[in-house]
Amino acid sequence: MTTAAAQASPNIALIKYWGNRDPDLRIPANGSISINLDGLHTRTQVTFDPGYDSDRLTVNGQNLSGPALQRVSRQLDLVREMSGVGEFARVVSENNFPMGAGIASSASAFAALSLAASTAAGLDPDEAELSRLARRGSGSACRSIPGGFVEWQTGEDDASSFAWSLAPADHWALVDCLAIVSREHKPTGSTQGHTLADTSVLQPARVSDAPRRLALCRRAVLERDFESLAEIVELDSNLMHAVMISSSPPLLYWQPGTLAVMHAVRAWRAAGTQACYTIDAGPNVHVICTQAASTQVAARLRALPGVLEVLTAPPGGPARLVESRQGQA
Ligand code: DP6
Repeated sequence: MTTAAAQASPNIALIKYWGNRDPDLRIPANGSISINLDGLHTRTQVTFDPGYDSDRLTVNGQNLSGPALQRVSRQLDLVREMSGVGEFARVVSENNFPMGAGIASSASAFAALSLAASTAAGLDPDEAELSRLARRGSGSACRSIPGGFVEWQTGEDDASSFAWSLAPADHWALVDCLAIVSREHKPTGSTQGHTLADTSVLQPARVSDAPRRLALCRRAVLERDFESLAEIVELDSNLMHAVMISSSPPLLYWQPGTLAVMHAVRAWRAAGTQACYTIDAGPNVHVICTQAASTQVAARLRALPGVLEVLTAPPGGPARLVESRQGQA
């Protein structure tokens, strides 16, 4: 029996991943940039045991089967292929953040699973190899392997599509104030959403302009230029949602509360507050602001109609091992 446990943070994309060139390998249509979210994590333990007759999965105390287990088993198959380990595994995973709050748990889940499983299988992958492995489970998971401010290059194939750290977590004191306007389970998840991207006539324009947006965002991060960051982050989110809204069938994630936050954030910034919005495949709004503005931004968000709750997270570190034991019964 071999076992290992790892912990990883979710991340919020400043430049979004939407659509795949190769859905099976998860080679994205465009590069993306994100920030890991500190204080939030998935912690996952993987145990390979010759006594198991199938893979088993427990998430937040619940035994899961069906599509969730199949997705995890496919990821374990990759690790078994790479390592030569033939045993089935038990995977026990806990999130310390609420599900359905607009924080994608697949990023932290597949980052933690990839690190724990490869360590338990006796592999010692470097950061890029681990990022590539995590990408196969969930595209955005490759960005939860390195720490802080992270860029994922599209690459051309499995070997060249991975993420690295642009700057460590303490490079820039930003805060993600997540305004929750709905706790309902989203009807269309990201994996299905990606397959619809190419049905929008706007996707080619969004993808061909991505290198320009990535360069602007990268520069704004490296130079800690909030005004430039705010403009490009909001544009990129708006472009992704324009593609979503114009897909067949259309994906319209925004609720009235979503728009209330978008308008408020724009007005606050026009009046001098360093804050901007970005929205993933759901109705909740991530308001990125400077740490200096964050107490006021969070308080103002809580006072807006339609905002149920506000969670806050500064930039977070890389995925890491939290426990590793080999060859013990
Ligand atoms: C809108 O990484 O969740 O959050 O690869 O199918 O697991 P899968 O998709 P996922 O897609 C994330 C989409 C997004 C934008 C982003 O995080 O870049």
